[in-house]
Amino acid sequence: MQTFIKDLSKHVGEEVVLKGWLNNIRSSGSIAFLELRDGNGFIQCVANKKELAEDVWNLVENSTQESSIIVTGKVTQHPKKTDVFELQITKYQLVQQAIDYPIGNKEHGPEFLMDNRHLWLRSKKQWAILRIRHLVKAGLQDYFNNQGYIELDTPIFTPTSCEGTTDLFEVNYFDRKAYLTQNGQLYLEAMCMAFGRVYDLCPNFRAEKSKTRKHLTEFWSLNPEIAFIEHEESLKIQEASIKHVVKYVLEHGGEELALLERDLSELQAVVEKPFVHYEYGDAIAELKKRGSSIEYGKDLGAEDEELLTNDSDVPVIVKNWPKDIKPFYMKKHPIDSKLVLNADVLASRGFGEIIGGSQREDDYEIILQNIKSAGLQVDIFEWYLDLRKYGSVPHCGFGIGIERVTRWIAGIHHIRETSAFPRMLNRIEP
Ligand code: 4AD
Ligand code: MG
Repeated sequence: MQTFIKDLSKHVGEEVVLKGWLNNIRSSGSIAFLELRDGNGFIQCVANKKELAEDVWNLVENSTQESSIIVTGKVTQHPKKTDVFELQITKYQLVQQAIDYPIGNKEHGPEFLMDNRHLWLRSKKQWAILRIRHLVKAGLQDYFNNQGYIELDTPIFTPTSCEGTTDLFEVNYFDRKAYLTQNGQLYLEAMCMAFGRVYDLCPNFRAEKSKTRKHLTEFWSLNPEIAFIEHEESLKIQEASIKHVVKYVLEHGGEELALLERDLSELQAVVEKPFVHYEYGDAIAELKKRGSSIEYGKDLGAEDEELLTNDSDVPVIVKNWPKDIKPFYMKKHPIDSKLVLNADVLASRGFGEIIGGSQREDDYEIILQNIKSAGLQVDIFEWYLDLRKYGSVPHCGFGIGIERVTRWIAGIHHIRETSAFPRMLNRIEP
C-alpha cells in the first residue's frame, strides 16, 4: 500500500512504500542518498550497498533525475532534526527511467525555465509557490464561506466591458463579437440582490500591453459583492479577509514558507497590526514628499505604489480617488462630487496593488448618466440598470487578485511563478 511523505511521522519504525520521482541522487560508491518527491513532500532515502542485493544496488546507483520509482523501506527519524524523516531502502523499483532531464542543478535563465514550465513545476521552489497559491484560494474561500457568503460563478463570455474598453480580448461568438470577461463584477451585483452576500472565484482576462512583474493577461480573482453595506464597512471586510488569508497560509503553509525563506515576522505583522489608510489626495501629497513626480488626478504607477509602501509592514489602503480616472459604476462621494467611494489595497513592502474595490452607484439617474458619459452603449446595460430600478440598495464589492496575493505572501519577485501556466504579453506556451 502506498504511503504519502506527509504522513510519515505516523510510521516511524515501520516499513512503507513510497511512490514518486527522483529529485536528486548522490552516491559515494557504498551509500547513496536519493531525494524522492511524491507531490506532497520531499524525503531523503538512504540506500546501503552492504544491505541490498547486488541487482537492487545497481538499479539504485544508475538511477537518474526525474525517473519514476517505487521504494520500500523503513522510516527513521532524522538524527538531528525532530520533524524530518528518512527512509532506509529495502526494495527499489524503477517505473520509468528518465534520460537527460533538461533542468539540472545549474542555473537556468527564466526564458529556458518558462519554455520548460511543464517540467519546471516539479522543482522545489515552484512546488512551494503553487501550494501557497492553493492555500491563498482555500484561505479566502474559508473566510467568506464562514461569513455566510455563497460562491457563484460569473460568465467568461461577455457582450461588454466592465473595467474600460482598452484592454479587451475580442472573440467570435457565432455571428457576433464577444469579449472574454475582465471581471465578473456587474453580474455579481445582480447576484447580491438575489443572495445578499456572494463571491466568485474566476479567471479574468486583460489584453494589457504592460510587460511588468505584476501583470498577467489571464489571472484569477475572488470578488465579494455585498448588499446593504457602505464603503467604510467594505474596507473593514477587505482588511479582515486579508488578515485571515495570511493567517491561514502561516498555519497551513509552514513548510512551503520555510522553503522560500519567507520572513515570517513580516507576515505576522499583517495579521496583528491595523492597515494604514490614506485619502487619495493625502497619498499624492505624501508621494510628492517622498520624491515622486506624480500629479494630483493621476493613477499611481508601480514606482509610486512601491514608494508608498516600501517602509510599511502592513498593507496601505488608498481611498476615494478622482472620478475622472475611475470606471462608471463607482458611487459618487457624498461630500466631494469629484471623488468616488473606492479604494485600492496595496500590499506591504512594495508588492503593489492586491485589491481594487468600491461602493457601487445605486442611483438610477446618476449611473445612467455615467454610462453615457463613458461612451458605453446603454442598451447593453439595460439589465444592469434594472438593478437600480427594482429595490436598489447601497452595495459594495471588491476584487482580490489571487496571483498578486500569492506573490506577496510567498515573497516572489515575478508574478509568472504564481501561475502554473502563466499567460503574458509575450507568452502563451506551453
Ligand atoms: O482593480 P481591478 O481592475 O478591479 C476590478 O476588476 C473590479 N471590478 C473588482 C471588483 O470590484 N469586484 O482588479 C482587481 C484585482 C487587482 O487589485 C489585482 O489584484 C488583480 O485583480 N489584477 C491583476 N492581477 C494580475 N494581472 C493583471 N493584469 C491584473 N489586473 C488586476
Ligand atoms: Mg485596480
